[in-house]
Amino acid sequence: MRKKIVAGNWKMNKNSEQTEILLNELIAQIPASCDAKVIVAPTFVNLASAVNHLKNTPIGVSAQNMHQAASGAYTGEISADMLKNIGVNTVILGHSERRAIFHETDALIANKVETALQNDMNVIFCFGEELKDRQSQNHFNIVENQLRDGLFHIQKKDWEKIVLAYEPVWAIGTGETASPEQAQEMHEFIRETVRKSFGSDVAEDVSILYGGSVKPDNAKEIFSKSDVDGGLIGGAALNAKDFIAIVTAF
Ligand code: 13P
Repeated sequence: MRKKIVAGNWKMNKNSEQTEILLNELIAQIPASCDAKVIVAPTFVNLASAVNHLKNTPIGVSAQNMHQAASGAYTGEISADMLKNIGVNTVILGHSERRAIFHETDALIANKVETALQNDMNVIFCFGEELKDRQSQNHFNIVENQLRDGLFHIQKKDWEKIVLAYEPVWAIGTGETASPEQAQEMHEFIRETVRKSFGSDVAEDVSILYGGSVKPDNAKEIFSKSDVDGGLIGGAALNAKDFIAIVTAF
């Protein structure tokens, strides 16, 4: 069954006190009955406390990244086992900031996906074209290649652990969002691409989130599109009122 999901990617924001304040606000303000699964992704150092804080609430916790190796001499890195050990079963992989700033390639991201699946973790797999790709009408090719090279090595049964997050790079943190029509057009293409390789049952079941300057005032229209199953929210996830307004846009 395709799930509706609103996930907040906090990126490198909020220290421990600020994390606690925002989590308390979210717990207080989240509607009692809510159509969408709500997930937050605080920074690594605040994940364990977030898991404890959100116990017995409907809000789930995700990591923003992890290393592909099981353990070893990888200074500064975090393994799947470490995440699972503190109760984090979901990880965002392939975010455009990891690709652009930390030079993560499709091949590396494919490795990370493999490690996450081996550890029975859920993956929020991010991908999306840059402005130059859209301007040169190459955006469908780029998106298809990112999917094929970073994700499509998985087996059919693995899809139950995968959520897709289409995030056009030109819309991230820029205040410029894809129009609901642009989002729908790409999400439909993504679902078709999944269908061609893995069949209709997988394509119909996978949740495809949109990310890129989703705000309270545009969420409803974007979420109303038939192939948009939710959002991956950056800036607006750092403020409880805005994030909850986006959650309730469903
Ligand atoms: P913004 O919502 O700030 O554009 O960020 C989107 C994003 O990158 C979520 O992962």
